[in-house]
Amino acid sequence: MLVSKINNTDINYCIYNASGVRCSTKNELNKLNISKSGIVLSKSCTINSRQGNSLPRYWDNNLLSINSSGLPNLGFDFYNEYKCINKPYFISLSGMKYDDNFYMLNNLNNHINGIELNLSCPNIKGHSQTGYDFNQTENFLRKASEILDDKKSDFVFGIKLPPYFDEHHFNKIAEIINNSKVNSITCINSLGNGLVIDSESESCLIKPKNGFGGIGGSVIKPIALANVHKFYSLTKCSIIGCGGIKTGNDAFQHILCGASAVQVGTTFYQEDTECFNRIGDELKEIMINKNYKTIDNFKGNLKYL
Ligand code: SIN
Repeated sequence: MLVSKINNTDINYCIYNASGVRCSTKNELNKLNISKSGIVLSKSCTINSRQGNSLPRYWDNNLLSINSSGLPNLGFDFYNEYKCINKPYFISLSGMKYDDNFYMLNNLNNHINGIELNLSCPNIKGHSQTGYDFNQTENFLRKASEILDDKKSDFVFGIKLPPYFDEHHFNKIAEIINNSKVNSITCINSLGNGLVIDSESESCLIKPKNGFGGIGGSVIKPIALANVHKFYSLTKCSIIGCGGIKTGNDAFQHILCGASAVQVGTTFYQEDTECFNRIGDELKEIMINKNYKTIDNFKGNLKYL
C-alpha cells in the first residue's frame, strides 16, 4: 500500500530517515537496514571524517528541535563502501568545498542507488547555504550533472534544499533545477539559524554559533508543505517531503502536496526506528478510511478553495 518510486527507483515503503539522524555509524545504518525504513540514507558526508561542532549541539521538545551538529561523519570512503541489503541505499554528500563534492561524485561506487546533495547545511561557521546562492547553485548543478551523466536511468540524483519563502526564489531555483539532471528534491532541510533560549537560565540551549542552529520538528511543517507543493508544481522531479512529520496525518499531507516519499528527522531522533512502523500504520489507516489503495491515488491532489 505504501509502495512508491523515486525517479525510476522502486521503494517498498514511502517513509524513511532524514539524513543526519541516527545514520552515521555502521550500527545505525545496519539498524536502519533491518527497520521498516524504505531506504537507508546516510549522514551527510565530507571527504574526511569530522567530529562536528562542540556539545551540546542538539535540543528538542514536543514542538521543535534545534541542531548545530556541524557535519560529524565518518568520511566519504566509509559511506561509499557501506552496503545495504534488500533496499536502496542513498548517500548524502556535503563537501566542505565544491571540488570535494565533485571528487565524491566522481568516485561513487556502483552499488550506491542514489545521492542527496546537501545544498542546505546551515551549521558550518563561515559557510553559507549553497541553495540560497543561485549563481553558485547553477554552476554547481551544471558540473554535477556532467559528472553523473553516465549513471543508469534509475540512479537518483537528489538535492536537499533549504526552505524558500518567496515566489521569485521558488521560480528561480526551479528553473535552475529544470536545466540540470536533478531528478529528486528533498524539501526541506531545517530552518537555518534559529535561536531557542531558556528564560530561567537566560541562555541559549545549544553551544555552537552562539546558540544558532537549524530548526526542525512540528513547527516547520507548514513551510515544508509549501516547499513540497511549489517544487511539485514547478518541476518534474520526485519530491521528498521532510519537515514536521510526526504522524501518519503529517505524511498524508506531505503526499497530498506532491511528495513521493517522506523523511522523518526529529521524530526519528525521539522514537528511533519504531516511528517508521507507527507513522506508516497511521497513514494506512487514513488511506483505508478514504478508500485510497496507493499513494498515487492522492499524491499531489491538493484542492484549492
Ligand atoms: C549538521 O550536521 O549540522 C546538519 C546537517 C544539515 O542540516 O544539513
